[in-house]
Amino acid sequence: METLAIRVFGDPVLKRVSEKVQNIDESLASLCERMLEAMYQAPGIGLAAPQVGISKRFFVYDYGDGPKILINPEIVDTDGEWEYDEGCLSIPGLSWNIVRPKQIHIVGYDIDGREVSIEADELESRLFQHEMDHLNGKLLLDYLDEEQQKEAKKVLRQMIMRQGNDDPLGPKGVQFP
Ligand code: NI
Repeated sequence: METLAIRVFGDPVLKRVSEKVQNIDESLASLCERMLEAMYQAPGIGLAAPQVGISKRFFVYDYGDGPKILINPEIVDTDGEWEYDEGCLSIPGLSWNIVRPKQIHIVGYDIDGREVSIEADELESRLFQHEMDHLNGKLLLDYLDEEQQKEAKKVLRQMIMRQGNDDPLGPKGVQFP
């Protein structure tokens, strides 16, 4: 089967708030397998469903101890502050220092429908917060100030159009995100 394409900045699916997963079943499991394949190939340490065009609340990740899946995740607690140079597979080639909570407590379900509860710190915590943002239609660009956004959009627009894709900022006058 063909590797899933990772959607990049300008694709409206990345701005959508995803819906809860209703059924944890075989088709979800095989989709997750394909997402993991695309994630490893990128390579990345996390990939959320909207990044492959699916507005559902789940993501795959591998924080160094094997492939994992988190379904209908929710962050129930956060603590501290931590700055980290953060990138995104959907915004290729760019990264920014972004401050977010240092520690989080995240809950959700695994692919067998079992409840999962994880206390994460620093990079692992950052990974979860980043993927959660994707499920809420939020991108790294939303954390930048106006000047940084302008610069980033210019670079991205040129890059995406160079690849022969449609203008990610859409028709003149309409700008997203
Ligand atoms: Ni991302």
